[in-house]
Amino acid sequence: MNNRITTLAIETSCDETSCAVLRDGREVLSNIISSQIDVHKKFGGVVPEVASRKHIENIDLIIQQALDEAKVTFEDIDLIGVTQGPGLVGALLVGISSAKAIAYALNKPLIGVNHIQGHICANYIEHKDLHPPFTCLVVSGGHTYLAYANDYIDYELIGRTRDDAAGEAFDKVARTLGLSYPGGPLIDKLSKEGNPNAIDFPRVYLNDNSYDFSFSGLKTAVLNYINNIKQKGEQIIVKDIAASFQQAVIEVLVDKTISLAKERKSNKIVMAGGVAANEGLRNLMKKRGQEEGMEILYPSRLLCTDNAAMIGSAAYFNYIKGYTSDYYLNVVPNLELK
Ligand code: KG4
Ligand code: ZN
Repeated sequence: MNNRITTLAIETSCDETSCAVLRDGREVLSNIISSQIDVHKKFGGVVPEVASRKHIENIDLIIQQALDEAKVTFEDIDLIGVTQGPGLVGALLVGISSAKAIAYALNKPLIGVNHIQGHICANYIEHKDLHPPFTCLVVSGGHTYLAYANDYIDYELIGRTRDDAAGEAFDKVARTLGLSYPGGPLIDKLSKEGNPNAIDFPRVYLNDNSYDFSFSGLKTAVLNYINNIKQKGEQIIVKDIAASFQQAVIEVLVDKTISLAKERKSNKIVMAGGVAANEGLRNLMKKRGQEEGMEILYPSRLLCTDNAAMIGSAAYFNYIKGYTSDYYLNVVPNLELK
């Protein structure tokens, strides 16, 4: 199969069992995603032990489906990539154990991938001409990072959340509003009908020079607002609360990202992670980016949320930079972006 690299990638960090086959770092031959959302919905969030068990039930099937859809066999695989962290320890272990077994049986290199790097690399799949450097905003259910990409796998961490992640804030506020899990997409949808200026929720900038974020105060402000309205016996307008909350989150995300890009004289902003699927965030970033003459990029919705294709892309770029893992590769539930 010429000298291009065919990667088999596995992602099991949370509630999606996913396996993908990629040619080099940007071409997806298959990307099978089996979501457990319906299983966890009735608990209002992901139950780690249930997630691990579901991954075990699904993983072999999903790997076979990914190979079949890509029209390749194990013999065609040159490289095995797998999420090492961050994520749920038991869930990650299922993916890592499978990846190690395959790498050992095929005698092919194994790459442990940082899940956050993976989210960013989804952009290399989506935008075939994208090259570093760029300014980067990663907004997922567990993480909120502002970074500068010096190279494909070399990220300078500039800012982070000091408490809740952006996606976590979306999910918690959604729960308060009686919406189901995951709440982010539902708040996004409701916001289109609501008035973003109806309620003046706080925008938390911390001090002037900080690129860090904080969303837990905003979450409390929403809760206090709802309790207050209820006490007064007034009616809660869910769509207005959703739209006003979303506006408070995205204004801060966009302001800080644009400021960093300006400071670095960078005219390319890349967004990644589940919250990068948010239409309000995409639109505001594009509007502000256009005013500043900056290019704004993000992956398609499917590649924003967890999937193995993004892990395959990151595995490839790590591999060509000379990084490989050995069979002692272990999960790192709190792995940081680096
Ligand atoms: O990146 P991801 O799939 O998983 C993690 O690595 O955490 O992100 C999931 C998060 C959830 O919090 C979900 O509510 C949020 O992304 N999310 C959204 C949207 N789609 C997913 N948040 C706001 N608007 C959306 N359209
Ligand atoms: Zn993720």
